[in-house]
Amino acid sequence: MIHFDHLKNTDPEIYEAIQKEKKRQQDNLEMIASENFTSEAVMEAMGSYMTNKYAEGYPGHRYYAGCQNVDIAEDIARERLKKLFGAEHANVQPHSGAQANEAVYVACLEPGDKVLTMTLNSGGHISHMSKATAQSRFYEPIYYDVNPETYTIDYDEVEKLALEHKPKLIITGASAYPRIIDFKRFREIADKSGSLLMVDMAHIAGLVAAGVHPSPVPYADFVTSTTHKTLRGPRGGIILCKEEWAKKIDLAVFPKTQGGPLEHVIAAKAVAFKEALEPAFKEYQKQVVKNAAALAEQLIKNGFNVLTGGTDNHLVLLDLRNKNITGLELEQRLDSVRITANKNAVPFDTENKKVTSGVRLGTPALTTRGMKEEQMKIIADLINLCAEPDFESHKAHILEKVEKLTKDFPLYNN
Ligand SMILES: Cc1ncc(COP(=O)(O)O)c(C=O)c1O
Repeated sequence: MIHFDHLKNTDPEIYEAIQKEKKRQQDNLEMIASENFTSEAVMEAMGSYMTNKYAEGYPGHRYYAGCQNVDIAEDIARERLKKLFGAEHANVQPHSGAQANEAVYVACLEPGDKVLTMTLNSGGHISHMSKATAQSRFYEPIYYDVNPETYTIDYDEVEKLALEHKPKLIITGASAYPRIIDFKRFREIADKSGSLLMVDMAHIAGLVAAGVHPSPVPYADFVTSTTHKTLRGPRGGIILCKEEWAKKIDLAVFPKTQGGPLEHVIAAKAVAFKEALEPAFKEYQKQVVKNAAALAEQLIKNGFNVLTGGTDNHLVLLDLRNKNITGLELEQRLDSVRITANKNAVPFDTENKKVTSGVRLGTPALTTRGMKEEQMKIIADLINLCAEPDFESHKAHILEKVEKLTKDFPLYNN
């Protein structure tokens, strides 16, 4: 339990908002695939004295005095991270996943360079040079989609585009892709087209760390990630790379794209990496995957169109068109019964982006609470009731079930 003795007295409004958020997390079934619950130890490090320190630069080479202690934390974070993923070089300073990606672009691209990257609708992330970003104006993105029949990555098509355009960089990794990505094949394609390869493993980093998803580290020139999704750390980003890119990556993070590192968050990242190196973390990740499979199976039994017919990882994508409900409508109904998930475009979606035809569901947060396959089946049935035309008549029953589940699997014991 984290104590807020000072805050309670000095700023009751913010104290109150934090307490309400804690209660919301306890009382809801969190199924946003990119969210998780950190340990109290991670939160303690994050809320610590290290927030007060300026430390531009890197351990041993700072632009400020007094960095002895933050150097200890940052060095530990880098070493643990390298060990966790078997990487040659690690940078733990990116403030977020999007900033980690931007730093890679700055490290290896010149304005106007071509980049082959997956569209948002096929599951890519906005920071992978989607048209909405500033980077798409500086570089020249070429987009690939998933196969329109299988909804999985069409490696032959990626190869065709790579050979045609000879991009400087190929990006893979996703925000909404339920299947294993063949990183070896991407490396082969990149070698044929003379391209660099960046893998953004933000969603699957915890699975990779635990060995339940193949690692991109042996194949990619750059691997980026967030630390707050399946990896279960504080909000933030990281970059792993081959030694030959170490200097350029470090310079791209600071001073090219960021200022002072968030040393309190870096300390919290170190704590999370230590947790991820424990055997219990492997068991947790195995359960995350088993839970997603159980969820998908029961949703299929309930007549849902689970894209790709199931999942290999922590998330499940639903195309809701056969249920005559939009992503937005189902998200709102779920929210009204304390199940938190997000609407999500499906590949080749014709719906407006703010409405969408799909919903994305994830199991990392529920699994952190200790839930297993049995609970996933119950939840899949509740989601089904939410999609029914007579949803309103089931509402009281669903809320009762959610209440029981959240009570049976408490979060942050107080
Ligand atoms: C694959 C992927 N990369 C990067 C990001 C961006 O991370 P952040 O929100 O920390 O900038 C996300 C966020 O969801 C993501 O899914």
